[in-house]
Amino acid sequence: MIVYKTDAEIRMMRESSRIVARILGELRPMIKPGVRTSDLDAYAERRTRELGAKPAFKSYRGYPASLCVSINEEIIHGIPSARALKEGDIVSLDFGVLYDGFYGDAARTYPVGQVAPLARKLIQAAERSLEKGLEKMVEGNRISDISAAVQDYVEAQGFSVIRSFVGHGIGHSLHEEPQVPNFGFPGRGPKIRRGLVLAIEPMIAAGDWEVEVLMDGWTALTKDRSLAAHYEQTVALTDRGLEILSADEGEASRGHGLKEQPYA
Ligand code: MF3
Ligand code: CO
Repeated sequence: MIVYKTDAEIRMMRESSRIVARILGELRPMIKPGVRTSDLDAYAERRTRELGAKPAFKSYRGYPASLCVSINEEIIHGIPSARALKEGDIVSLDFGVLYDGFYGDAARTYPVGQVAPLARKLIQAAERSLEKGLEKMVEGNRISDISAAVQDYVEAQGFSVIRSFVGHGIGHSLHEEPQVPNFGFPGRGPKIRRGLVLAIEPMIAAGDWEVEVLMDGWTALTKDRSLAAHYEQTVALTDRGLEILSADEGEASRGHGLKEQPYA
């Protein structure tokens, strides 16, 4: 069952998503060679509590940290550790909080110092593919219209879409219906209507889409060890159109924020 949200509920979800965006934004300048991924996690957890929220991922199905930090061929669910980032890596940060009864969830992939042109292109394709999906989040469309738009864009860039993980509804629970795959044929699945709040999260790879999970039971990486990138926003369809609840200032000013604005 899809739980559609009222305007008042979306107002509350704006707060939890804003905390997620704020902390991800604060982590960005920490992404430098030498920083340990556990330092990023500790910072995120401390700031979450300072802002009166709770980390959404900690203890979720036994996940041991507040932040997911996935490096290079790691796609998602990388567990923070003493491992340090190094120049040329790309790193995906996935973060969620619970605030006042509502979840927010977002992810970004950042370069560490100078990265290879392919890595830069992959990161940009992940972000753009999310924007392509968002363009389809309009009343009357169906969920798989989002999926197909993401897949078409990613594959046109010469990359592939991860299939074993999907986006999701979000609200009082971190994962609600519907599932939002990043691939598929258009015109299928539930109709999109006002009050729908989704965490849309394309995960893409420079090589093939097959996935392997490490012995830690969490870290998902590409089977062919090609680079992966992940971008996620919590978004709501409101009376005023599409709103990216977890957009940071940079994304908002680039037009990746409101449907009314063109996507550059
Ligand atoms: N952001 C992830 C998602 O949307 C949540 C990570 S799962 C956890 O599914 F276990 F790490 F919390
Ligand atoms: Co998510």
